[in-house]
Amino acid sequence: MTAKSFWKNKRIVITGGTSGLGKALATALNEPGAKVVVVARNKGAARPVIQGPNIHFVQGDVSSKRQVHRIVAEALAKLGGIDVLINNAGYVGETPLKLLVDTECEDFEQVLATNLVGPFRLTKAFLPGMILQKKGIVINISSDAAINAYATWGGYSASKAALDHISRIWNEELSQHGIRFLAIDPGDMNTPMYFRAIPDADPADLNDPADVADQLLTFIEDKDLHTGVRYAGKEWRMTQQKGELWKTLK
Ligand SMILES: NC(=O)c1ccc[n+]([C@@H]2O[C@H](COP(=O)([O-])OP(=O)(O)OC[C@H]3O[C@@H](n4cnc5c(N)ncnc54)[C@H](OP(=O)(O)O)[C@@H]3O)[C@@H](O)[C@H]2O)c1
Repeated sequence: MTAKSFWKNKRIVITGGTSGLGKALATALNEPGAKVVVVARNKGAARPVIQGPNIHFVQGDVSSKRQVHRIVAEALAKLGGIDVLINNAGYVGETPLKLLVDTECEDFEQVLATNLVGPFRLTKAFLPGMILQKKGIVINISSDAAINAYATWGGYSASKAALDHISRIWNEELSQHGIRFLAIDPGDMNTPMYFRAIPDADPADLNDPADVADQLLTFIEDKDLHTGVRYAGKEWRMTQQKGELWKTLK
């Protein structure tokens, strides 16, 4: 199945869809005719993305308990339902990043609220519709920090490790209802978040989020490629290449 036919008319919510990977995903989904809601705290950066008739903006902070039900209600009103939720909004913590011992508890909590509790609340709130229609896909955007112990990335790493594992448990509990969960590490990308965390990074070492978005959408649509829930950047790209090779051999 081509990316075009899979994504056409799919109703998709992307948190953090105004910058970096989220914006690239929203842009890539415009062409095959998906209906997209992007969620972010600020509308400013969304303008180039929300030009398409099928791309809508919902203002909201995913870390806020108070805002979650309003975000979900507005998104469902714009889309008329949901097929795919992409929990992509992320927060690395106060920069410059600090050792755990120097991390303020409030900042640690904010990282967890954005990267873990927010996706949990949104998933819970969007699930009833998916369960009723007996299908849905939830993509949780992870990181290699979920696996590797990088000094100064403590809160972020803990949030992404927990996000990975909760994705496995969601999948265990809900695959019988036709709902699939994937936790995907996109790999290092040239985005504002990366440069906030590592200001002296060399852009030449980083992937273009537009390329990652295209490859990711191709990976997501091909259910046959998914043997697990959590995928590292190298794994999902390799699996995808093998799948493409396999198709050409068949
Ligand atoms: N860049 C990398 O190399 C890399 C590597 C591995 C994993 N990731 C993961 O990939 C995802 C996207 O990262 P990125 O690099 O594309 O980030 P980015 O360019 O900084 O974009 C982050 C987006 O999230 C939104 N956002 C942040 N906090 C939010 C909140 N509390 N509520 C709603 N929206 C919020 C931002 O808009 P507002 O500020 O207006 O809200 C923005 O649209 C993240 O989950 C990140 O952890 C990135």
